[in-house]
Amino acid sequence: MPERPFVYSDGMLFCDGVPLSEIADRFDTPTYVYSAEAIRFAYHEIDQAFAGLPHRICYSVKANPNLSVCSILAALGAGADVTSGGELVRALRAGFPPEKIVFAGVGKSRAEIEQALTAGIGHFSVESEGELRLLSGVAADRATIAGFALRVNPDVNAHTHPYITTGLASSKFGVPIGEATRLYRLAATLPGLRAEGIGMHIGSQMEDLSPVVEATRGLAHLAAELLAQGVPLQHIDIGGGYPITYGDTQPDSPGKLTTAIEPILRPLGLLVLTAPGRRLVGAAGALLVRILYRKRNGNHAFIVADGGMNALLRPALYRAQHRLVAVRENTGEVQAQVVGPVCESADVLSFEETTPDVQPGELLAILDTGAYGFSMASEYNGRPRPAEVLVDGAAARLVRRRQSHEEMMVPEIDL
Ligand code: LLP
Repeated sequence: MPERPFVYSDGMLFCDGVPLSEIADRFDTPTYVYSAEAIRFAYHEIDQAFAGLPHRICYSVKANPNLSVCSILAALGAGADVTSGGELVRALRAGFPPEKIVFAGVGKSRAEIEQALTAGIGHFSVESEGELRLLSGVAADRATIAGFALRVNPDVNAHTHPYITTGLASSKFGVPIGEATRLYRLAATLPGLRAEGIGMHIGSQMEDLSPVVEATRGLAHLAAELLAQGVPLQHIDIGGGYPITYGDTQPDSPGKLTTAIEPILRPLGLLVLTAPGRRLVGAAGALLVRILYRKRNGNHAFIVADGGMNALLRPALYRAQHRLVAVRENTGEVQAQVVGPVCESADVLSFEETTPDVQPGELLAILDTGAYGFSMASEYNGRPRPAEVLVDGAAARLVRRRQSHEEMMVPEIDL
């Protein structure tokens, strides 16, 4: 089943047609493995959910910026939601048409704005009055017009992890919904700007998507008022935040959300934009690590893997619990904590009490790590980031090789 790309066959864990042991042998560990079919499946699921509305899916590149992953989504017709000059360059290289690229994010620099204008992106998602004025100035200097959408902060609680809640008044994102009308009026007096849309993004991994319905209601109401006042809006962006399951939960599906928001959005006659990241790539990926040691400190048992918070930060940063499965089937369970090689006590891969009973030399797969896995990896402790492998049917291809230790030092200047 494409939505579950990592399954056992003949006693071994496979990614689609390829045994993970073969991938570890060919490409070493730690390595991220992605299923192209699972990404396509996830895209079609969201696309189908929005079939009743004119829509565009703009992939949130931050979830997994790998060029080959981006190319799959670009080939399916997706647009891209980028948050930096670096993501913009990638999105263009991966084949997203510039006019389907949204430049989002709270901290765009002048250089990034110039870069995006040069690239001819679709529009800027503007998050403050200061940014609106800067965008106007830069566009006017270049005698061009920048399309923009205000990102509104609706002050709705997404009820997810506090670090990924973004639509509350206490969070840095967007402009207060009550100030939007004033800012569209201001924009109309500034040179170089064209109001094209309105948007929001209230949080990530919202297992219950009803806060999005509530916030969409407020946003649609505002959009209708702006249209009535003559603001020439063309699109409304409801953000991303679609959940995936990290275990036994049954989070809301995109279809459940669209059933609820269709009647709210259809009367506006606007193009509906959405910017999913996690839902498109999360379940498609697993991090493959090899066990180095088993050890015991007093009553505490540890399984030490060759990748930890450097390869996958989510457990350390959010106490996220990913499913850990042994590549060899039926290992049984043991009471132990799986940790990485990094010199930090937070370097934990699983907070569960029990874990697969894997021995040194054996492989573990950490599931549902296709989103915010590699993209948040670091070289901390002098370890190269994981390699990345894309499986498409029976073919496994390296889509990012591991850097050598020498290469990691290349940008440095040794005085
Ligand atoms: N649009 C905007 C403006 C965003 O800030 C984000 C994510 C998205 C779309 C995509 O959200 P998604 O569909 O992936 O939920 N590192 C965290 C997640 C951070 C999300 C940041 N913004 C994690 O590992 O859970």
